[in-house]
Amino acid sequence: MNQAIVNISGLRKVYNGKTPVTAVDGIDLNVAPGLIYGLLGPNGAGKTTTISIATTRAIPTAGSVRIDGIDVVAHPAVARRSIGVVPQYNTLDRSCTVTENIYFHCLFFGMNATQAKVRTAQLLEQFRLSDRAAMYPQALSGGLAQRLQIARAIAHHPKVLFLDEPSAGLDPQSRIAMWEAVQALRAEGITVVLTTHYMEEADELCDRLAIIDHGKILVEDTPAVLKASIGGDKIFELRMGDSDTVQLQSRLRELSGVNVVEPIGGGLRVLAKAQDGVLASVVTTASQYGLRDVVTTEPSLETVFIRLTGRDLRE
Ligand SMILES: Nc1ncnc2c1ncn2[C@@H]1O[C@H](COP(=O)(O)OP(=O)(O)OP(=O)(O)O)[C@@H](O)[C@H]1O
Ligand SMILES: [Mg+2]
Repeated sequence: MNQAIVNISGLRKVYNGKTPVTAVDGIDLNVAPGLIYGLLGPNGAGKTTTISIATTRAIPTAGSVRIDGIDVVAHPAVARRSIGVVPQYNTLDRSCTVTENIYFHCLFFGMNATQAKVRTAQLLEQFRLSDRAAMYPQALSGGLAQRLQIARAIAHHPKVLFLDEPSAGLDPQSRIAMWEAVQALRAEGITVVLTTHYMEEADELCDRLAIIDHGKILVEDTPAVLKASIGGDKIFELRMGDSDTVQLQSRLRELSGVNVVEPIGGGLRVLAKAQDGVLASVVTTASQYGLRDVVTTEPSLETVFIRLTGRDLRE
């Protein structure tokens, strides 16, 4: 994909300590311009490391990252003009006001005082921070601080904005406000790459995403295609207690509409087509084998992750 605005190729990062840690283990990724792109994965998956390399904060052990065609290792200063970053942890300058946090960023990226003033005023307005302009970051709520971080990160008109765990620690309302701010950036034409370990966030917000675990991409696609890939649009979890399910499994597999039957702790998971009567026939059959309870759900990115790794995203 040569029109990719973010191109990651053969990326590896090994942290050399007493016991070396392979944080990124061969990642290839292309992000088309104008998307909200997600890196979804559990703690320690390598999301921050990938973002740190892409934003010139860490040097890869192998492989390359190109932003709008510019190699970030070979030309970090040039690349940084195209990149905005909101790191995982608050990096606002506590000794500067809300206004100054944006204004000095503008100066740092080469604007003159007048340009910086105009841009700062415009961003304060856009991110509804004008009435907090004279406050210091400590006085802002988590949601407002996050908004200020995003405003500052795009002040120099980057082509790509990297957001590392943008909703970590935000209350639900601030999280939705943040999603809206990110969608507004996409409408402005900014490509957004974000990391998250919230599947709902990845599902709601991202046009495409890569699920990452142990430094590797497991799958990459749109949320809809990933959810459809698990082999059914209904999931029934049958709680079977200590019952032997070997015979039940083969009987369930013969039922019309049932695609997959697999053992899980304390029972079976059945993936089925959403068609009339499937649940009834599954329950009727399982009842003959000691069914205790049934939980029905629909595929989520969480289910995709569990099916790929056998683990829960939240551990
Ligand atoms: N500076 C470092 N030195 C040594 N090991 C590190 C360093 N930074 C990260 N690691 C290790 O690399 C792996 C990937 O970490 P990374 O922070 O990239 O994961 P993450 O997906 O961002 O996780 P989280 O969801 O917790 O933010 C982890 O095993 C982590 O302990
Ligand atoms: Mg991280």
